[in-house]
Amino acid sequence: MNPSHTTALITGAGRRIGAACAKRVAQHGTAVVIHYGTSHSEAKELQEEITNQGGEAHILQADLTDPEQTMALIPQAMALLNSRPIDILINNAAIFLPGSIQSTPIDLWNRHLAINLTAPFLLMQAFVLALPPQRTGKIIQIIDQYGHRPRPGYAAYSAAKSALWTLTRQAALELAPRIQVNAIGPGPILPASGDSMKKFAQIAAATPSQRAGTLDDITAALFFLLHNDFITGEMIRVDGGEHLR
Ligand SMILES: NC(=O)c1ccc[n+]([C@@H]2O[C@H](COP(=O)([O-])OP(=O)(O)OC[C@H]3O[C@@H](n4cnc5c(N)ncnc54)[C@H](OP(=O)(O)O)[C@@H]3O)[C@@H](O)[C@H]2O)c1
Repeated sequence: MNPSHTTALITGAGRRIGAACAKRVAQHGTAVVIHYGTSHSEAKELQEEITNQGGEAHILQADLTDPEQTMALIPQAMALLNSRPIDILINNAAIFLPGSIQSTPIDLWNRHLAINLTAPFLLMQAFVLALPPQRTGKIIQIIDQYGHRPRPGYAAYSAAKSALWTLTRQAALELAPRIQVNAIGPGPILPASGDSMKKFAQIAAATPSQRAGTLDDITAALFFLLHNDFITGEMIRVDGGEHLR
């Protein structure tokens, strides 16, 4: 990774994909701030795991539906890091709940936009404002291949992720050359809480790669993007080719 990047804030990192990203980044000597919403014990365990391996990790709780809590995350993370600025922001937290155009109530719509789109926007804004002018940084959005190819029955999710992809390219343009802004578009990696294993296995089998992806597949893409200083406004789809179908 760029040796000048030594700190990272990762949202929704107490478990699953976010936790895998936190571990991978920490393995390379980056001090990580693990944001969580409700997964306090998982975040604490991850913090201990990273510190036991000689890394530096902190935990920070915030409800990403609340703009004030969201905007406070960057300054709070810097305080935990003894005023060091955050060099890497990974917007991973999201919700993924079903609802077609006809059946999505306004509160479900608003929740998706708040967590999956507004929170990454506010965090990017706070990240840029807090980054000292002489420093460079990286922003990685964990989006979804459904940001390109909407999933029927998930209107709010697909719309929010698609808008996040537009925002990613907008930010790549506006924040260059100091900050690279890129995305990872996972396909089926882990079953969502509402998805049965059977349904998940069917979705994975229907991809051109005929399998689910792994956490390593995601963190390898993350690592690649964090290593490269000449890629911006790009999305790596780690989806076994699902977007082609
Ligand atoms: N899983 C997949 O196969 C897959 C496929 C495509 C795209 N993705 C994308 O990859 C990312 C990670 O996926 P995942 O399956 O690991 O995600 P996940 O488990 O569904 O959610 C990640 C975290 O988001 C946090 N979160 C949700 N609402 C929050 C809120 N209001 N305030 C604070 N935190 C909140 C939760 O933190 P707490 O647990 O602490 O509450 C949760 O652990 C997401 O952006 C997802 O859309 C995943």
